[in-house]
Amino acid sequence: MQLGLNGKIVLVTGGTKSIGLAIVKAFLQEGAIVHFCSRTAADVERTAQDINTAALGEAHGAVVDVSDADSIKTWVNTIAEKHDGRIDVLVSNVSALAVPNTHENWDLTYQTDVKGTYTLIEAALPHLKLTKGNIVSISSVSGRYVDFTAPGPYGACKAALLHYISQLGHTLVKDGVRANSVSPGNIYVEDGFWGKIEREMEDFFAKVKGDNPTGRLGTPQEVADAVLFLASERAAFISGANLLVDGAVSPAVQF
Ligand SMILES: NC(=O)c1ccc[n+]([C@@H]2O[C@H](COP(=O)([O-])OP(=O)(O)OC[C@H]3O[C@@H](n4cnc5c(N)ncnc54)[C@H](OP(=O)(O)O)[C@@H]3O)[C@@H](O)[C@H]2O)c1
Repeated sequence: MQLGLNGKIVLVTGGTKSIGLAIVKAFLQEGAIVHFCSRTAADVERTAQDINTAALGEAHGAVVDVSDADSIKTWVNTIAEKHDGRIDVLVSNVSALAVPNTHENWDLTYQTDVKGTYTLIEAALPHLKLTKGNIVSISSVSGRYVDFTAPGPYGACKAALLHYISQLGHTLVKDGVRANSVSPGNIYVEDGFWGKIEREMEDFFAKVKGDNPTGRLGTPQEVADAVLFLASERAAFISGANLLVDGAVSPAVQF
């Protein structure tokens, strides 16, 4: 399938690890020019170096905290200036991943997940309108059903994002801009969230794995593949959708 992503200008937040890193590499494989960010300078530098060493393509890293609105705006504007005002694809991937139900985590999750995504999209929108580009937001199955993260801000803020992205998917389409969500289920990365659970909560990990109809957790590549499809011209008639990548673990029927 030709995805038509060669030469596209792509922004990915949280691109140094796990799902974000797989998304960065997948776009590079298609010949896109990828800008990614995270908060940790050493990881940004290492990721850029690894990509360069492996000759994966043109990638540029920056140190940006998506909970800081000024920092996001500066990052987006700098990239747009570099590419004559063009941004083709915006992938909002970062979450505070703050599960416990505390005041601090509600503030952090709202500021990072919800406001961070809103600010990122607002900053990029003029440039996406120029290219008739698109937005892919990473949500979670926790935004669609009550799971082990409940009660708390994680699923509630992911649900808010699903609603907002769906609103944009419908209201921006007249400007030629599409917006969609990808909702991963449990995605395994050895040094990520589920790798830690596997090491520290063996029984819970075995239950989560066993509860999935596929008998396994997902991979970052499987999430990246869904993101690439939605971001590509193959999905030109899809806007306002939420694509689950969960091995059918979600019990709800999706209309
Ligand atoms: N893993 C799963 O099973 C799973 C399931 C469903 C949904 N998701 C969703 O998928 C997305 C990625 O999750 P993940 O598991 O891949 O996370 P991860 O392994 O913790 O990686 C997160 C990435 O985002 C960066 N980051 C975190 N906070 C940031 C901030 N405030 N500003 C800029 N960068 C930031 C991290 O680097 P720094 O820490 O250096 O900033 C890192 O590059 C999230 O939206 C998550 O909710 C994940």
